[in-house]
Amino acid sequence: MSVRPIRITGDPVLHTPARPVTNFGEELDELVLDMIDTMREAPGVGLAAPQIGVDVQVFVWEWSDEQDKLHEGAIVNPVLSLGQRQRGPLDEEGEIEGCLSVPDFRYPLRRASDVVLSGLDPRGHALSMYAEGWLARIFQHEFDHLQGRLYIDRLAWRLRREARRDIRREGFGQPGRSWLPGVDSYEESDHEAEEA
Ligand code: NI
Repeated sequence: MSVRPIRITGDPVLHTPARPVTNFGEELDELVLDMIDTMREAPGVGLAAPQIGVDVQVFVWEWSDEQDKLHEGAIVNPVLSLGQRQRGPLDEEGEIEGCLSVPDFRYPLRRASDVVLSGLDPRGHALSMYAEGWLARIFQHEFDHLQGRLYIDRLAWRLRREARRDIRREGFGQPGRSWLPGVDSYEESDHEAEEA
């Protein structure tokens, strides 16, 4: 098991749809364990394989809700159905999102309030679950990663413009950038670990 470098926006692997997994076995197990290590070290609440440079449809999550109930898992070749889209004005704090591949930035984004996530577990057994609230947001964020889409691609135009400016200023947005959790100093500020 090991912590792997996290690719930063601009790397082609983050902007290309991932391939379905066809081989279930040791290599996949190792990938999932490395993803969990990397997510914990970052720290984050979710991580998709393309974020560590592997273009396959796998993501992991680990998040404790307001009642301290732990939600964790890994899914392979997922399908996501969206439930209700939240209504009303965007809550710039309550709906704020972040991504380990756009480190140290966060922007508010409207998401569906509930989803059904289906797919396979790393053993190849069918898996399906309903999620709402923050867990539903994590699933939508990670599922997007497997389609080659980052949450910043979905922002309202004003915020997208702001994000583009921030990214350019930081020197992100070009191939070959990555950071290593535990070594590089991204994501160390005092905000809650809600990155994915
Ligand atoms: Ni992300």
